[in-house]
Amino acid sequence: MVRESRTGAIVGCIRLNSISRQASFAVVGYEYDKRYWGKGYATEALIAVTNHCHKNMLLYRLEAWTLAGNEASDRILQKAGFRLEGTQRQKMILRGQHFDQRLFGRLADDHFA
Ligand SMILES: CC(C)(COP(=O)(O)OP(=O)(O)OC[C@H]1O[C@@H](n2cnc3c(N)ncnc32)[C@H](O)[C@@H]1OP(=O)(O)O)[C@@H](O)C(=O)NCCC(=O)NCCS
Repeated sequence: MVRESRTGAIVGCIRLNSISRQASFAVVGYEYDKRYWGKGYATEALIAVTNHCHKNMLLYRLEAWTLAGNEASDRILQKAGFRLEGTQRQKMILRGQHFDQRLFGRLADDHFA
């Protein structure tokens, strides 16, 4: 869970959806309460958690998926040093509708500002 340090309020969550120690790999996912969007919390938590994954959990590769059109999610991944690696066409079905899914990856030895 991600808390706002000033108030202690829970503002969202970030998780590792799957971890493979053998492949040194995990998939990152997150959701935030709409009332707290646009404050930079999602970006800050993503950077902290992914750094922890590389440095302390010794996971080499991290992945994240976004639905095509989720510009905020694409943006926070790029700000956290993830690179767009490709698009899987019509991979996701939501409420009967197909959507492209975009794959992002970050490696422990990728360098980002
Ligand atoms: C995706 C999500 C976590 C982003 O949270 P957030 O609070 O907006 O994130 P931040 O404030 O840290 O950063 C958002 C960035 O995206 C940008 N952004 C937001 N909406 C945008 C849009 N429509 N187009 C382009 N950029 C956009 C913001 O400007 C900001 O970038 P900046 O700091 O360079 O200005 C939040 O929208 C969410 O929980 N969505 C629902 C669940 C979800 O989509 N999860 C991800 C599944 S892949």
